[in-house]
Amino acid sequence: MKERIVSGMRPTGKLHFGHYLGVIQNWEELQHKYDSYFFVADWHALTTKYDKTETLKEDVIDVVIDWLSCGIDPEVSTIYVQSLVPEIAELNVYLSMITPQNWVERDPCLKDMAKIIRSKDGAGAQINYGLMGYPVLMSADIMMFNSNFVPVGSDQVAHIEITRDIARRFNNLYKTDFFNEPKPLLNHCALICGLDGNKMGKSFHNDIKISDTEEITTKKIMTAITDRSRMRKDDPGHPDDCEVAFKYWQIFGSEQDIQTVRCECEKGLRGCADCKRQLAKVINARFAPIREKRKYYEEHPEIVEKIIREGSEKARTEAKKVLQNVRNIIGMY
Ligand code: TRP
Ligand code: SF4
Repeated sequence: MKERIVSGMRPTGKLHFGHYLGVIQNWEELQHKYDSYFFVADWHALTTKYDKTETLKEDVIDVVIDWLSCGIDPEVSTIYVQSLVPEIAELNVYLSMITPQNWVERDPCLKDMAKIIRSKDGAGAQINYGLMGYPVLMSADIMMFNSNFVPVGSDQVAHIEITRDIARRFNNLYKTDFFNEPKPLLNHCALICGLDGNKMGKSFHNDIKISDTEEITTKKIMTAITDRSRMRKDDPGHPDDCEVAFKYWQIFGSEQDIQTVRCECEKGLRGCADCKRQLAKVINARFAPIREKRKYYEEHPEIVEKIIREGSEKARTEAKKVLQNVRNIIGMY
């Protein structure tokens, strides 16, 4: 029997290259090795965006379309929407009962989120009860399928630590070994910076989306920061000081491309504009098949809907089994 992984993403709408390189590519590989559960964390979205739900449905669909286009295969993995598996909410209740308040209060990820809310809304900003429950709900996501591993970025490891603590506490309290203590499975992939050299993010307007057209991608790449000390195109350049464009070459170019770019740049044989135009071509070629698939799913929303419904039903079937066990172990009616 394959070991199991569970991972989720909040529905932030159309995904960017950072998501692709940092998360989805990793999932795509892992799905062949593990029994994989991938879900859109729409309840987690509500912990902070409970007042901005106009685009929520659309955002969920966009995330799933991006996954499918990048090769997350519904025949191989279970793809679902968190809120379509209400068993998770019931497990969340049981886990809430046994989680000491100070465990959630000291969660560093949550402290960061609270800080952001206060900086936006002022010192008197509200931190809702649901947000405090973020790590417990996340534990319910993971324990719902009695997962062995959780593929995440390093920013999420503190949450998984709490999950391990909760699983252990459950086992101790109810004298069982039912729950695994899930371990984080850290992504080791290229971190891609935004076009301006800062962290890539939707709200920073420095991202390239998987769904961007070739034209938009090229336009965006042309704005990427290069070697700032370079004045004319025949000045010798410094690829290692080329803050964004050369980094992208290192991620998307072949060994041969990277060598050629370095060599021509250092000799002053390559202008930055030409260099970036060529880079855009390489990137567009890489994303062409993904974007073609994306177009197909956009034109067939009924197929996406079916995948979401069927995946969520499949997840529910498994979740119900786990929940029945949990109810029995606790001693519920
Ligand atoms: N907190 C995660 C994030 O912001 C999303 C998430 C919710 C998640 N539940 C999860 C990730 C369970 C892994 C497992 O990215
Ligand atoms: Fe960067 Fe290319 Fe310009 Fe060299 S030529 S500085 S690698 S963009």
